[in-house]
Amino acid sequence: MLKGKNIGLVGGGNMAEALIKGLILSKICSSDRLFVSDIRSERLDYLKRTYSIKAFKDNAEMVSQSDIIILAVKPQDIKTAISEFRDALRDETLIISIAAGITTAFLKQCLAKKIPTIRVMPNTAALALASMSAISKGPYATDGHLEMAEALFRGIGETLVLPEKMMDAVTGLSGSGPAYICLFIEGLVDGGVKMGLTREVALKLAIQTVFGTGKLLKETGEHPAILKEKVASPGGTTIFGLHALEVARVKGALVSAVEAATKQSQALGKK
Ligand SMILES: NC(=O)c1ccc[n+]([C@@H]2O[C@H](COP(=O)([O-])OP(=O)(O)OC[C@H]3O[C@@H](n4cnc5c(N)ncnc54)[C@H](OP(=O)(O)O)[C@@H]3O)[C@@H](O)[C@H]2O)c1
Repeated sequence: MLKGKNIGLVGGGNMAEALIKGLILSKICSSDRLFVSDIRSERLDYLKRTYSIKAFKDNAEMVSQSDIIILAVKPQDIKTAISEFRDALRDETLIISIAAGITTAFLKQCLAKKIPTIRVMPNTAALALASMSAISKGPYATDGHLEMAEALFRGIGETLVLPEKMMDAVTGLSGSGPAYICLFIEGLVDGGVKMGLTREVALKLAIQTVFGTGKLLKETGEHPAILKEKVASPGGTTIFGLHALEVARVKGALVSAVEAATKQSQALGKK
C-alpha cells in the first residue's frame, strides 16, 4: 500500500524524528523514500546524517517530490508552512497533520484545493516506538488514505481510528497523558526517597512498576479495577496505600486533568 510512495515530513523536530526512526526500523518505509524539510539547517544536517534521508530547506521543493506529506510543525506554524508549499501540491497528494488542535476543516481552508487530509494525534512515546496514535479521516480522504495513515503510524506504536470530534478528548488523554504519568512517577519516587530508598533505586522501581502494570493490563485485557482488587488483600499494605490515594482524591484529579486539557485543545482549535 505504501510501496513506492515518497513520504515528506514538513518540520523536522521531535515528532518527525520519532516517525522517521519508527518508519525505518519497522521497515515500513526505506530511507531513500523519506524526505524532511525544516527551517533549521542544523536539524536537517542531523537528520540527514543520522537516518540517511533526503533533507530540504525548501518546503515546496520537497512537497513536489512527495506522495504523502506529514505536517509536523507546531500548530501556530501550520498556516505559514502550508502557504509555503501549497502551489507545489499535486491533487493526488495526501496530507496528514499531527498538529494538536488543528482541525481538518482548518487545513482545507488553508489548502484551498481538493486535497485529501487526515488528522493524527500521536504522543511522545513515539520516541520509544510506543505511541498511541488516534487517526481521523478529513475532507476528500478515502478509506484507502486512512489505511495508508494507519500503516504509517503503526511504525511508531498502536493506532485507533476515531471520529474527528473526539480528537480534543484524545489530546487531553493520550496526547497529554505521558506528562501525567511522569508526574505520577515523580510522586512515587519522592515517596520512596522519603521512606529511605535512594533516588536511583526509587526511580527504577517506579518506572518498571508503571511499565509492567501497563503491559500486564494490555496483555491480559483485565480491567484495572479488577487487578486493583486482586492485589489489595484484606489488611495488607496495598489497601492502606489505596486509601491514602482516595483520601487525596487522585482519581478525581486525573478526571479533571483530562477535562482541562481537552478544553484547552478545544480552545486552541478555535484560535
Ligand atoms: N511532542 C509531542 O508530544 C506531540 C504529541 C502529539 C502531537 N504533537 C504535534 O506534533 C507537532 C510537532 O511537534 P514537535 O514537538 O515535534 O515540534 P518541534 O520539535 O518544535 O518541531 C517542529 C520543527 O518545525 C520547524 N518549523 C517551524 N516552521 C517551519 C516551517 N514553516 N517549515 C518547516 N519547518 C518549520 C521548527 O523550527 P523552529 O523550532 O525554529 O520553529 C522545528 O524544527 C506539533 O504540531 C504538535 O502539536 C506533538
